[in-house]
Amino acid sequence: MATVKRIGVVGGGQMGSGIAQVATMHGVDVWLHDLDPQALSKASSSISSSIHRFVSKSHITQAKGAEALKRLRFTSNLEDFRLADFIIEAIVESEDVKKDLFVKLDKIAKSSAILASNTSSISITRLASSTSRPRQVIGMHFMNPPPVMKLIEIVRGADTSEETFAATKALAERMGKVVITSQDYSGFIVNRILMPMINEAFFALYTGVATKEDIDTGMKLGTNHPMGPLELADFIGLDVCLSIMRVLQAGLGDNKYAPCPLLVKYVDAGRLGRKRGVGVYEYHKESRSAKS
Ligand code: 3HC
Repeated sequence: MATVKRIGVVGGGQMGSGIAQVATMHGVDVWLHDLDPQALSKASSSISSSIHRFVSKSHITQAKGAEALKRLRFTSNLEDFRLADFIIEAIVESEDVKKDLFVKLDKIAKSSAILASNTSSISITRLASSTSRPRQVIGMHFMNPPPVMKLIEIVRGADTSEETFAATKALAERMGKVVITSQDYSGFIVNRILMPMINEAFFALYTGVATKEDIDTGMKLGTNHPMGPLELADFIGLDVCLSIMRVLQAGLGDNKYAPCPLLVKYVDAGRLGRKRGVGVYEYHKESRSAKS
């Protein structure tokens, strides 16, 4: 496949806007799509402020930052993706909603285009089967926050072709990322290991082993993780963690993946983490630090 020149990113949330930013900062023309114009305007300001942060730390020049912003366009019309070489979806983690999107993208995208999903745990093989081009469907899983995290996990569906894999790997490396490759089993590599750890931290809190602060400090200072598991759960979103645990439990058929009742309770209560201002911790708007 020829070098990817233009990509489309579907979903203007934290992941979609971060992916669009990484691509444009590495010389790729990007269209970012969201049905909600407000989401697009929020994405636009978060991308600008993140690029500004890279400029202010002298990681890139002001001119490079300005060029990156020029390569980026926003749209609420999926038809704008008909000329894209590569499309990455980063919408809600629902298999049905993603399948509907893949059916639409399959009709709109040119026949050579690759359709990638940033899903954190849904089967790429099943998403691919909703299209007429399963050989050109692949998982491209970015870590949060995409502009900072070095990894992309590439997931091969049952029918993903070698050409699709090679083009995706080349694009990921062009974006400055390190690639790991996973077969298509629930949770892939990172979430299969990370989410049970987070779930276990909830069990430690639930059963009174320790305070949330001590659980997080233990893992931060005891194992050199940048965030403790409960703080990280708030950062990822407790609803996302719960939904991934459920995918692991259903897909791997083992009770060891059963979500902790405390995690379920927090999600039921709407304590979804940083995005809601409250999760395991409470967050003040003006401060990025956690408050117990
Ligand atoms: N844009 C640009 N730069 C950013 C940024 C952004 N959005 N966010 C952070 N940075 C930069 C900062 O400017 C700073 O740069 P410097 O090293 O040159 O000074 C650096 O990143 C560190 O940022 P901060 O000092 O503001 O804050 P921290 O040191 O607390 O780092 C963090 C923030 C990078 C998020 C760090 O806490 C971290 O790595 N946390 C763990 C994140 C993680 O594990 N993510 C993976 C989650 S799992 C996942 O995504 C899978 C999914 O499917 C669930």
